Amino acid sequence: MANNYLIKGDSKEILKNLSNNSIHLVVTSPPYFNAREYSQWEKLDDYLNDMRNIFKEIFRILNNHRVFVLNVGDVQCKLGAQPWTLRRIPLGALFTTMCQEIGFEYVDNYIWDKGEPQSYRHMNGVTKFPFYQYPINSYEHILIFHKHILDQTRLPCPVCGSPHVQNNSQSEIGVQSWECNNENCIERSEGNRGKRFSARSIMMQKGQKEENIIEENLKKKWRKDIVSFSPVIKIFGDKNIAGHTAPFPEDIPEMAIKFYSYKGDTILDPFAGSFTTSLVAMKNGRHSIGIEVMPEYVKIGEKRLRNYTKQTRLDNNEKHDIILLDKKNLDRIKIQKSKVFDKENYIRTKQKRGVTPINQTDLQNLSISQSL
Ligand SMILES: C[S@@+](CC[C@H](N)C(=O)[O-])C[C@H]1O[C@@H](n2cnc3c(N)ncnc32)[C@H](O)[C@@H]1O
Ligand SMILES: [Zn+2]
Repeated sequence: MANNYLIKGDSKEILKNLSNNSIHLVVTSPPYFNAREYSQWEKLDDYLNDMRNIFKEIFRILNNHRVFVLNVGDVQCKLGAQPWTLRRIPLGALFTTMCQEIGFEYVDNYIWDKGEPQSYRHMNGVTKFPFYQYPINSYEHILIFHKHILDQTRLPCPVCGSPHVQNNSQSEIGVQSWECNNENCIERSEGNRGKRFSARSIMMQKGQKEENIIEENLKKKWRKDIVSFSPVIKIFGDKNIAGHTAPFPEDIPEMAIKFYSYKGDTILDPFAGSFTTSLVAMKNGRHSIGIEVMPEYVKIGEKRLRNYTKQTRLDNNEKHDIILLDKKNLDRIKIQKSKVFDKENYIRTKQKRGVTPINQTDLQNLSISQSL
């Protein structure tokens, strides 16, 4: 059973109720400073402060070695004087610095080429003289950040379970690694050194299962750092058929979820809008939490998720619970532990084996990848 929580409320408040290191992936697209009716801040600094507070909470609740995918456009705002009134706000750059200051590692920046724009409201095509020209905005950023802090907890050896491990030097910046000290551990190098491992390597090895394989065509689509796909077509005639003014296409959460999470993980979108992230999480065997401040958008999201479960009831055995919450009943949220690596559980089960030497027969019974 997959849980999908739709939370009506302000992320500034709601996120405070989620526990440290509990979420496995965050995918979101925040309001772009004064680009839409729902994003009215007087000053850019007020907007940035709000975003900073929310991103700090994201850093706290995201599990270590996990990823934050942030889609944002460098919006154009009418801030200048005539005739050149438009000013580009470099939100991609501002958020990059902001997230680094918070503690995230900046990993990547996909440029999403949105193709021919649907709206020409910022075009200056009429005047043919100098200093009137600027391009219509047709790209957005998809920024990839990593929470990658030194984990000081010494984990038992993944092979023999020995709790006697030596604190190794860092294998790379931000990754604490250990080396097994058990002389009888079967994974020793020719120089008689023990297996070296880290929390991150255990997680990544355990996640290499059939169910987490990324399709070749998806890898191909996101092979380069400029990616072209269509935005959501919202307007037909003069009617907004999407119901939300700025949904992102499923392509973004699809890449994020398949590239940076495992089956059974919990995916959070703190600016859920029409709950596209939750929908894609559902389609891919993940649990989801979406937070949205506008009640009418929560309704749109709920309808979308319910429609999906109705459509797929016949050919899909997975069951989805759709749970509507607000700030008064957040204690109903139950976040599942990661299927690939739950640190506390890992320590408990491994330590039981102690330092008893493992013989070859035991080894054959113990597929290393399963035992991780
Ligand atoms: C760019 S839209 C996200 C659209 C979404 N990706 C989708 O596919 O529909 C940003 C959303 O964040 C919501 N929002 C703005 N500030 C918020 C806050 N503090 N807490 C929760 N939601 C917020 C807005 O109402 C808006 O729906
Ligand atoms: Zn060992």
